[in-house]
Order: sequence, then C-alpha cells, then structure tokens
Amino acid sequence: MKDKNIVILTGAGISAESGLSTFRDNGGLWCNHRIEDVATPQAFFRNPMLVHDFYNSRRSQLKDVEPNAAHQALAKLAAKWQGKVYIITQNVDDLHERAAKNTNKPPILLHMHGELKKARCAESEKVFEWDGDLSTETPCPCCDKKGNMRPHIVWFGEIPLYMEAIQLLLKECSLFMSIGTSGNVYPAAGFVHEVRSFTDAHTVELNKEPSQGKSLFHEKIYGNATEIVPAYIDKILTGQVKLTA
Ligand code: OAD
Repeated sequence: MKDKNIVILTGAGISAESGLSTFRDNGGLWCNHRIEDVATPQAFFRNPMLVHDFYNSRRSQLKDVEPNAAHQALAKLAAKWQGKVYIITQNVDDLHERAAKNTNKPPILLHMHGELKKARCAESEKVFEWDGDLSTETPCPCCDKKGNMRPHIVWFGEIPLYMEAIQLLLKECSLFMSIGTSGNVYPAAGFVHEVRSFTDAHTVELNKEPSQGKSLFHEKIYGNATEIVPAYIDKILTGQVKLTA
C-alpha cells in the first residue's frame, strides 16, 4: 500500500501561519489590491511598475518567513512514503522547497501558478532564478533589453503551468489531499472532481473552513493547518488512512 502515489493540492492557507497573507480571507491580498490592477497581463501592459512593486514586495517578504509545521509534515510524508508524493501548489512562495531542503526524498513540486523567486523574459520565455526586485529598467539576462522581464507568475487569463502532467497525476493517484485552498479558482478547484471521476482514490480536504468544493471530498477536517496537517500525516504514515475509497 505504501508504494501508491499521493497527490496534494495546496493553497495560500498552508502558508498563512508562516505569516504570508491569503487572498480571500479578511485582510487578504485581494481585499487590498484589485486583481485587475496587479494580476492580469493587461495590468502589466498598462502599469508595469505597479505590478512589479506588488510582486517585489511579496518576493522580499519571503526573506522574513519560514516554513511551518504543515510544510514540514508534507516533507516528512514524502521522505517516509515509499510511493511518490506530488505537491501541486497554487502558492508562489518557496516554503515547500525550504521545508524539504534537508531530506533525501523531497516531494515532487509543481508550482502551477508560477514562482516569486523566478522571472522570465516576455519575449524568449526563458526563465531565470530571481532573488531581488524587478523593474522596467531591469536588463534581461538573455537579450539585455529593458522592459522585457516579468514575474514568473501565472496571471488571470493565462494558462496555469504543468497542466498536462497534472492531468495524468490526478488520474493515477490513490489519495488526494487539498490543503488551505478556498476552491474558488479553476482549474485547481476542479481537481477533486477529476480525481473522483477517474479513480477510486480517497479524497480529503484539510482547511480552516469548508471550501467551495467541500461536498466532493470523502473526508473533511477543519482547523489550523499547523495542527491538522501534521496529525493527518501521522495517521497516513501509521496506516490509519485507507487510501482507496
Ligand atoms: P484563498 O485566499 O482563496 O483561500 C485560502 C484558504 O485557506 C481559505 O479557505 C481559508 O479558510 C484557508 N486558511 C486560512 N488560514 C488557514 C490556516 N491557518 N490553516 C488552514 N487553512 C487556512 O487562497 P487560494 O485558494 O490559494 O491565484 O487561492 C487560489 C488562487 O487565487 C491563488 O493561487 C491566486 C489567487 O487569486 C493567482 O494569483 C493566479
């Protein structure tokens, strides 16, 4: 049983207790910024500096936060589970990577909405590791042109990354966990439906409150990620979770 694959979808809620804002909770990022101003290709065309400033400040915030017990529990699961553990994350932070940096068998991570610590050339699509700020004056490492660099982030109206690989994973998993996501944004919000349509995998939602897709999950556990995720991972590792429904 332990060689079966586990697929985990994570959202902003898993990083909330590390100190990163979610999007739709009270005081969340979309309460203080309009999506149309900072998270669409049109916004970047109209006012690139406003968009750069939004992502620069989020990138710089990563220096002040650490992975929490929920990120660490998922790293522990990947290290101990004989099968593969895939984390499909909507998060653009690097806390899953940092939680697993000292393990021999880290989870396989798919950042479907991009990564704050990467930037790319809008012309060549080449992607670069990026630690500092971006501006309209930043010369592109590949073509040296100014104004070509953009955050490596999937904006509204753009197609999420790794979708082909994700579709395959959803059809092959034996356990699907959704952690810290409100289930408002597709395609991620539809993943549980795909798992239910194509597999007999057990599906579980771990979140602070019921998500939009709550009725589609076999099991639901509500509370803070730093408490409920480590407890659930221990149940998996001690054989107390029956994988297929
Ligand atoms: P949301 O802000 O929509 O939802 C966060 C969820 O986490 C909510 O359901 C909260 O109840 C839950 N939550 C908050 N604190 C928690 C905690 N301590 N423990 C457990 N759960 C907690 O964030 P996402 O669902 O990730 O996309 O948002 C999805 C996408 O919408 C984002 O990737 C982003 C956004 O627009 C883009 O920018 C393209």
